[in-house]
Amino acid sequence: MSELALTRLADYQPPDFTTLSHVLRVVLDDGEAEIHHQQRFVRQGASNAALVLDGEALTVQSLAIDGVALESTAWQYDGKQLIITDVPDAFALKSVVHVDADGNKELSGLYRSNGIYCTQCEAQGFRRISFALDRPDVLATYDVRIEADQARCPVLLSNGDLIDQGMLDNGRHYAHWHDPHPKPSYLFAVVAGDLAEAQRSVTTPHGNELDLCIYTEAAFIEQTDFAMDSLVHAIEWDETRFDLDYDLTRFNIVAISDFNMGAMENKSLNVFNTRFVLGDTATATDQDFQGIESVIGHEYFHNWTGNRITCRDWFQLSLKEGLTVFRDQEFSADRGEAALERIANVNMLRRVQFAEDAGPLAHPVQPQAYAAIDNFYTATVYEKGAEIIRMYHTIIGEEAFQAGMRLYVQRHDGQAVRIEDFAACMSEASGFPFDGDFFRWYTHQGTPRVVFSSHYDEASRCLTLRAEQQTEKVKPQAALVIPVVFSLLNKAGEVYRFSDEAASDLWVLEEAVEERVIHDIDGEWLPVWLHGFSAPIYYDYGYQHADLAHIVAHADDGFARVEAMQTLYRRLFNAAYQQDEATYQTLISATSAVMGNALASDARSAGEKALLLSIPATASLINALATPWDMDAVLGAEIRLRHDLSSMLAEQADAYLQQDDTSTDSAYSAADAQIRQLRAVLLAHLAEADSGQWRARFTGAYEQARNMSERMAALHALNVRHDAAREAALADFAERFADYPLVLDKYYALQASAKDEGALARINALSEREGFVISNPNRFRALVGAFAQNLTLFHAPDGSGYRFVIGQIRRIVTLNPQLAARMLNTFAVAAQLDSSRQGLMTGELNSLLEVDGISTDVREVIERILGGL
Ligand code: TRP
Ligand code: ZN
Repeated sequence: MSELALTRLADYQPPDFTTLSHVLRVVLDDGEAEIHHQQRFVRQGASNAALVLDGEALTVQSLAIDGVALESTAWQYDGKQLIITDVPDAFALKSVVHVDADGNKELSGLYRSNGIYCTQCEAQGFRRISFALDRPDVLATYDVRIEADQARCPVLLSNGDLIDQGMLDNGRHYAHWHDPHPKPSYLFAVVAGDLAEAQRSVTTPHGNELDLCIYTEAAFIEQTDFAMDSLVHAIEWDETRFDLDYDLTRFNIVAISDFNMGAMENKSLNVFNTRFVLGDTATATDQDFQGIESVIGHEYFHNWTGNRITCRDWFQLSLKEGLTVFRDQEFSADRGEAALERIANVNMLRRVQFAEDAGPLAHPVQPQAYAAIDNFYTATVYEKGAEIIRMYHTIIGEEAFQAGMRLYVQRHDGQAVRIEDFAACMSEASGFPFDGDFFRWYTHQGTPRVVFSSHYDEASRCLTLRAEQQTEKVKPQAALVIPVVFSLLNKAGEVYRFSDEAASDLWVLEEAVEERVIHDIDGEWLPVWLHGFSAPIYYDYGYQHADLAHIVAHADDGFARVEAMQTLYRRLFNAAYQQDEATYQTLISATSAVMGNALASDARSAGEKALLLSIPATASLINALATPWDMDAVLGAEIRLRHDLSSMLAEQADAYLQQDDTSTDSAYSAADAQIRQLRAVLLAHLAEADSGQWRARFTGAYEQARNMSERMAALHALNVRHDAAREAALADFAERFADYPLVLDKYYALQASAKDEGALARINALSEREGFVISNPNRFRALVGAFAQNLTLFHAPDGSGYRFVIGQIRRIVTLNPQLAARMLNTFAVAAQLDSSRQGLMTGELNSLLEVDGISTDVREVIERILGGL
């Protein structure tokens, strides 16, 4: 590996100084900013330590301590750090710096997007606005005065309370904000621009009176109703389920078109990607609405889990993210059908996090070292982190979990703490030692596998269950503490009642091999493992194919039913991949019969039917295969499996779709979304089975669509084949929504998921069009991100797919390094590929390393991928 400097958890030192308060005057003019910044420091370390502040891309205009200007010999600034030697033990530093907002395309620090100035400070963006101890363990109050042209920037926002505003000379005005809650610099925010406002005043269940405001460009303001409703629901939910109240009277959300991530939890001034705020029936799918609700919840929930209680250092990132993802998942589960929400989350976890954990980018939830912290906003830190929190909850139950939360808040409010501190509170409140062996979930990487088996002894009427952990993939190798929620099902489809009458039981594995005996039990009971996916593991049990069908029909846990169905799909995929004809033939009829029964069932919700009938993503099916993967066989198996199953279901799917479909309201509701999801899945099956006879039906569905969900379902069906019907619908779509950037993103993503022979040429041409705005991350992800998920084109044997993606990344690699580094994650799969594809990927990655001025985050990702080969 190269000379990349690593930051290590083991080297953590508290800072030599801390900051008590910041007073900022942010003067905005014509795409530039002057930052007048006064901050008070007190020494808390060695008496001879110099003051060392972070600062990047800043032009220094003046520096003064306690009102006395600093001589140029008294300080040094190398573009990364400002060092001032000889400072007193307590003092005020006044700095004036110049920042080029319009020149900032990295979208970190202060930048301008469609005329709106905004900031992004997590993780290390504040240092691109002014000098500071830019680390999360320095908490201070912020007092911010913003000045700008009144006509161009009528709205001026920062954190906390608005305490004053007024006019200045030359058509300029100011607003003065004060945030009374001490916070780290990553939660600072400023927004200024010509923004429209949607406002709602609410009284919460706990009687708090709040002013909620959403800001966005005037053209989009009508599309913010759903986001506002979601915010109200989130506030109510946090009060009622977690007993956590908001701590100011005003809460602002700003929606910005150019944003690197989903959204950001700045104190009382959340900044969002427009994608997670804007949406109405005509422009957003049901899935988009669910995304909005969940991200609005997530950012709001950070106010307690992240802002009031924050991270000591960035190795603790999952302290706030894992816990907040768990909270947003529970919010969504409480608002919809919990089992369906859980299945969707698990599908994502397996597709993304399990893959990450198996490759060269694997890392513990509490990483030990990093070159660029921006590279650690990962599925492991977020999603596996949330799974760990869910395991606490599963092991001790809601009541003890909430007691642990109360202790955590009581003990650590206003502090910057470690994951260990959270575990200690949960241990103390519940009596379960989460700070013991359980803590390995944070410090170890890799996905464990558990092999279950069982044995029934007629003579003694004992059922022995056995669990053996395979720990090879866990690093450092060790057994983990694994909560297994399971039930037993008999031939009649009845559920065993445990001694406390519960239908399922919790078995917490602590050793590598454990047995559990159930005494005095009749007949042969079939174990149903991991209700609700009670631990993020791989697991096996020697089910007969018929056992799986039995579980789909009778298990009393929605997750377990869908899981059994997915196991059937996985077995079928494996048989196709290994060209095991006999198994394939047996399984194909068994599986399609179970699909047919599921669709016809009266006992299942439409949403569950949709999931039962969805073949898992190939990206998750391949995770369990032996390496190197034969990608040609993978793609062949995928096509065969989809075509065969869809063809067998087609007649029944067709009949179902012919039924009246106007029972749903065209607006979003969780219940109607389920029905539409099922119809979309069935339409997709028709498209896979199609030899041309249903194309007109798909066109009709497109034309008659009453909302974006129906429209997208029809477009996906049309997109399976490149013909005139597809072209006509896509052209109409692009024209109809020409003024809706978020909808056009869908157009780019559709184009990038076509698989026919001419697709790459068309996608290449699209990437050259003016509409493909390279500086807009949503547009870039729509085309290039969707292409990288298109396994057929991405893994083309001639390397053309890899070349296309790297070619696009090269266009942004110095412009927006965070985005480039993130997109490069798809190349981590190189480690599992055949030597030819590995060679092609390596060549492309090496060529990118040659680019002048490549950033640390990009270099770190490429080197870790290449180092894993
Ligand atoms: N804290 C944000 C969240 O979880 C994530 C985030 C937003 C972020 N913008 C970022 C992380 C920029 C790194 C860089 O909601
Ligand atoms: Zn978050």
